[in-house]
Amino acid sequence: MLTKRLAACAALVTPGGVVCDVGTDHAYLPAELLRRGQCTRAVATDIHAGPLEAAKRTLTEAGVLEQAELFLCDGLAQVQPEGITDVVIAGMGGETIIHILEDCPWRRQVHLILQPMTKIPDLRRWLAEQGFSWTEQAVQEGEKFYVVLSVFHSGTPGILSLLEQEVGCLDWQSQTARRYAGWKQQRFQKLAQRLRQAQRPEAEQWETLAETIQKKLQETDGKGETSC
Ligand SMILES: C[S@@+](CC[C@H](N)C(=O)[O-])C[C@H]1O[C@@H](n2cnc3c(N)ncnc32)[C@H](O)[C@@H]1O
Repeated sequence: MLTKRLAACAALVTPGGVVCDVGTDHAYLPAELLRRGQCTRAVATDIHAGPLEAAKRTLTEAGVLEQAELFLCDGLAQVQPEGITDVVIAGMGGETIIHILEDCPWRRQVHLILQPMTKIPDLRRWLAEQGFSWTEQAVQEGEKFYVVLSVFHSGTPGILSLLEQEVGCLDWQSQTARRYAGWKQQRFQKLAQRLRQAQRPEAEQWETLAETIQKKLQETDGKGETSC
């Protein structure tokens, strides 16, 4: 049974495809995709030997080890792209995800499923500059929010607004996305307050962003709308 975060990533993997899970740790994602028959083959990589041993155990226990290939490497360094339909990079910082993708010459040929934990605006900016397009969903586990990006290369570089960089390309009608946006709005408001108290000029942009989110939530209440 996958967590909601990993289940959201799994739901985006092409049915009948071949998944490559980067930073697989216990290989819960590829093991479940193979067990369900959603993937015919899986590749899993990790930069550390310990997680890769755990991955082998999970795949063995699920009875799917024969359909999996494991690589001890940085990102996708040892992976051949032949047949791979989807690359999942989940549970890692945005800067590590950028590093892994920058080092992968075939990054534009596959569907990318990205679930960054930190530096998310940096990752969104990098993707837009590189000509990637994506849709985004928010996932909530208890008090925590995660975002999952479903990314394809469109070839047209873009420049994102501050709202798109900081909050993402959300479906503003999704109740989870609206809760996530509301949570972000409060964080930006608090940041603006702190900066204003310190008489810092950047206060204004975060105050404006908080107001923009508030307005967007009001405007899209009951209406479907996806930005980016
Ligand atoms: C927090 S775990 C995430 C595991 C799983 N992907 C998930 O989302 O639940 C991060 C894993 O990524 C691995 N990792 C970190 N940097 C990596 C890199 N550059 N290439 C491959 N694996 C990496 C770590 O060793 C660790 O097992």
